Amino acid sequence: MKVIITGAAGQLGQALRRRVPDVIAGSPLELIVTSRTGGGGAIALNLADAEACRRLVEKHRPDWVINAGAYTAVDKAESEPQLVQAVNADAPAAFAEALQATGGHLLQVSTDFVFNGRQGSPYRPDQLVDPLGTYGASKAAGEAAVARVLDSSRFCILRTSWLYGPVGENFLITMLRLMRERDQLGVVADQVGCPTATSGLARACWAVLERSVSGIQHWSDAGVASWYDFAVAIAELATAEGLLDSSVRVNPISTTDYPTPAHRPSYSLLDCVSTRAVLQLQPLHWRSVLQEVLADVVA
Ligand SMILES: NC(=O)c1ccc[n+]([C@@H]2O[C@H](COP(=O)([O-])OP(=O)(O)OC[C@H]3O[C@@H](n4cnc5c(N)ncnc54)[C@H](OP(=O)(O)O)[C@@H]3O)[C@@H](O)[C@H]2O)c1
Repeated sequence: MKVIITGAAGQLGQALRRRVPDVIAGSPLELIVTSRTGGGGAIALNLADAEACRRLVEKHRPDWVINAGAYTAVDKAESEPQLVQAVNADAPAAFAEALQATGGHLLQVSTDFVFNGRQGSPYRPDQLVDPLGTYGASKAAGEAAVARVLDSSRFCILRTSWLYGPVGENFLITMLRLMRERDQLGVVADQVGCPTATSGLARACWAVLERSVSGIQHWSDAGVASWYDFAVAIAELATAEGLLDSSVRVNPISTTDYPTPAHRPSYSLLDCVSTRAVLQLQPLHWRSVLQEVLADVVA
């Protein structure tokens, strides 16, 4: 089975590469990876260049593209809407068009930020999207393009939430840096979701290919947290792990205390029940997963 992974230098891209199976659905895996600049075994691919995305698929004719690349800077996105649209909507559309012609499949990774966060129960995969900001809108547009272009059995849109891992730019790495620099910090306590480790999401992505899963799917680790809860757990577990020298005080603050250019959903829990069944994967509680991830963080 021939697979292209985009965004190989990103946190999910790296996790996917760390967990590459030898065999998928009974076939040996032939892997092609792309990153913005290339190098380190990756082909250079600018996701803002839709024609280049199309050409890549036409040249290699993969069985699957895992589109793990994306413009993910949620606040900066508000000031670069055209680039965000190109990377998060036009690139998946181009992959979908080319794959529709070559007969391949697309795994499009997406986000809880396609929802407005105004409901108080977990979002099901079949619910209508209503994004609040430029980033969420671009990801929703990417989802819509993929679903419009590709036969329903040939795409999987896998939404996830609050992604973090031992490397890359994410909440865990930012918190560890701030917690080393300060003796106390304020973290938003009125936005609720579920932290999700790149390791488990990568496992879910490979399971999508193994089981040829299609449609819209939701994957996050188990449980629920506010950013404040997540930060408190990071402080406690990182201190126990020896990654922080002294204990830091984490104070709960509200979204209005920490204004950002982009509006974020105040509730973005994903209902993952049907996806867990179809992938035959059961996630651990996010706090247990955090402990495992911290063991992989280089001090
Ligand atoms: N991060 C989250 O909290 C979160 C939450 C829910 C869903 N998701 C989704 O999960 C997926 C993976 O996210 P992630 O956290 O792994 O993202 P990430 O760490 O930011 O990685 C994204 C990768 O895409 C690359 N990229 C961006 N613009 C590009 C361009 N024009 N050409 C080529 N490459 C480009 C980046 O390259 P550079 O390294 O060169 O910038 C980066 O390596 C994305 O679809 C994202 O929307 C993320």
